[in-house]
Amino acid sequence: MAILVLYATVEGHSRKIAEHVAADLETRGHMVVLGDLREPGFAVPGRFDGIVLCAPIHIGRYPDPVIHFATDWKDALNSVPNAFVSVSLAIASESEEEREHARAYPLGLEKKTGYRPQFVHHAAGALKYLEYDFFKRMMLRHISAKEGGPVDTSRDHELTDWDALDRFVADFSDLVVRTEDAEPSAI
Ligand SMILES: Cc1cc2nc3c(=O)[nH]c(=O)nc-3n(C[C@H](O)[C@H](O)[C@H](O)COP(=O)(O)O)c2cc1C
Repeated sequence: MAILVLYATVEGHSRKIAEHVAADLETRGHMVVLGDLREPGFAVPGRFDGIVLCAPIHIGRYPDPVIHFATDWKDALNSVPNAFVSVSLAIASESEEEREHARAYPLGLEKKTGYRPQFVHHAAGALKYLEYDFFKRMMLRHISAKEGGPVDTSRDHELTDWDALDRFVADFSDLVVRTEDAEPSAI
C-alpha cells in the first residue's frame, strides 16, 4: 500500500518519530512517502491508501502549519485510513491530570479543523536541554520538574517509548491492509 507520513516539528523530535514510523511501515512492505507538511511540493494526500501525521505540542498547542494543513486537507485525510501521532511532554507526566490534558489535544485539533484521526497515538517527546537557549532551558526544566520529568540540563532526554510506537504502527498497517482488502474491485 502507499502511505504518506507527514510531520511538523520545531525542535526536530517529531521528524525523528515520523522517520521511525516511515521506516517501520516500509519494513512491513508499504511504499512510503515522508515529508514536512510545511514544505510545498509533497505528494497530494488524496492519492494515498493511508496517511499518518506527526505533530508536537508547543506552549499548549500544535504549530499553526498543522492547523492550516488539517483544515485545508481534512476531506482527503478523513477519506482514507489515517492516524495522528501527538508528541508532548505532558503525556509522560506523573500527574494524571496533566496526562488527561495531553490526551485532549487531538480533540481540540479536530474541533478546530474538522480533521478526525481514526487512530491517535500519544508519544512522549524530548527535552533538548543542550540545544535550548538559556530561557527555554530554564522554562522546560521548570515544566519538567513540575511533571516529575528529567531536570539534568547537562544532557538531552528522549522520553519516547519506541516499542509502543512500533505497536501503534503495526495496528495502523493492519488497518490500511484490511481497508484495501474490503474495497470493492474496480472491475
Ligand atoms: C518552547 C517549548 C514549549 C513546549 N510546550 C509544551 C506544552 O505546552 N505541553 C507539552 O506537553 N509539551 C511541551 N513541550 C514539549 C515538546 O512537545 C517536546 O519537546 C517535543 O519533543 C517537541 O517536538 P519537536 O522537537 O518536534 O518540536 C514544549 C517544548 C518546548 C521547547
